[in-house]
Amino acid sequence: MKNYNPVNTLTWVPLTIQDESESLLKIVSAEKEFVTDEDGNVWIDAISSWWTMIYGHRHPTLVEALQNQLKSLDHVMLAGNIHEAAETLSKALLELTRSDFAKVFYSDNGSNGIEIALKLSIQYYQNNPNTKPRSEFLVFSNSYHGDSIGAMNVSGKNYFNRIFSELRFPTKEFPAPNCMFCPWGKKPNNCSTECLSELELEIKQKEYAGIVIEPLVFGANGMLFYDKKVLVKLRELATYTDTLLIFDEVFTGMGKLGEPFAYQKASVVPDLLVIAKGLTGGMLPLAATLVPNFVYETFLSKDPYKSFFHAHTMTGNALACSVGYASVAMLKDFGLTKVRELESKLKTHAESFQNKMGNSIENVRVMGGIFAFEWKEPVATDEYLNPIGKQIRDSLRKYFILLRPLGRTIYITPPYTISDASLERIFLALEKTLLTFLETEED
Ligand SMILES: Cc1ncc(COP(=O)(O)O)c(C=O)c1O
Repeated sequence: MKNYNPVNTLTWVPLTIQDESESLLKIVSAEKEFVTDEDGNVWIDAISSWWTMIYGHRHPTLVEALQNQLKSLDHVMLAGNIHEAAETLSKALLELTRSDFAKVFYSDNGSNGIEIALKLSIQYYQNNPNTKPRSEFLVFSNSYHGDSIGAMNVSGKNYFNRIFSELRFPTKEFPAPNCMFCPWGKKPNNCSTECLSELELEIKQKEYAGIVIEPLVFGANGMLFYDKKVLVKLRELATYTDTLLIFDEVFTGMGKLGEPFAYQKASVVPDLLVIAKGLTGGMLPLAATLVPNFVYETFLSKDPYKSFFHAHTMTGNALACSVGYASVAMLKDFGLTKVRELESKLKTHAESFQNKMGNSIENVRVMGGIFAFEWKEPVATDEYLNPIGKQIRDSLRKYFILLRPLGRTIYITPPYTISDASLERIFLALEKTLLTFLETEED
């Protein structure tokens, strides 16, 4: 195998230390849950290429949708124009929300979807004759909303964004609700959302433009699960103070938790909803910010200053929309059934995995298509940069499994359609790898 590293490639690969000691895989093809490297090794893409290809790589239905769309329209700028691919996808998405939303604003990645939600919120208060301008957001530690400046700014302050702290617009950050290590020692059945008391005081004293949160799971910052009670309380506070509640479902949307959207699983409807990742089926960049009527109505005006000045060149790209529509259609046809089946298989695997690994791991958890746990360490640091993550990732290469642990949090988010044999292979590889780690620690 040739040696590719971040320094000898012309492409700057992201989230990778730029050093010759880092080796890169050269991937030449992909199908279902597999990617093949240039030496013909077949790898399992156990986190679905950053949570996007929920039906596996190059699903024939997505390929067909793309080929069909190519026969008529590739792209037309969406300012001053509309096309069938965008309208068809918007209709399907709004139906999936059972009309909780009325309009779909497209962009091409999750960060942009968040930027749009933030800007829409700020302008909503400006356009609305009954409200005073507001521009600050309530945000949570351990949250991740993307790497553009605005999205970074409403994310938890951490190693990802600390260098850019000077660029921040004001936000008020609160500790992320965390039902796995509740600082109040509560369980969901006896909790009174003590974790939100400080936020409650704050939001009642000062007017905020929005609360931004990933519903039920804080993904990129540790796959932290929390109870829907938190969202119920946030909804209550947001309504009471007329603050917009923004759910970032870039990760949790499109069936990841067993319902089309996490907000439906929690039975808490936000005011703005951002989706991406699974919507793309892993094929073409696409994101959507869903807007309800009461927000949209404040933009209805002949006055140009009330309109929303935001567009990206490729907004509403017809090819991406066609693939997105196929992704939504498949979710309804079989995706949800598949992810629920996957959840029950993950639970079975998780139980036997826990038994085998004993107390070397903790917080073994499953929700929808997510399986996660923490590698127990004498002094546990939950930082992404905890070297154990990289060590585990590198060791799994021996078994041709692609993973990206988040520090000591190890997780898989396979395609909903992954085969039983591949699931077995992943769990076996994890088991062998971690047992080897334990043996080395003992030596
Ligand atoms: C919850 C959440 N929001 C936003 C983003 C940013 O999405 P993108 O990487 O497409 O910009 C991510 C990416 O991982 C995410 O997990």
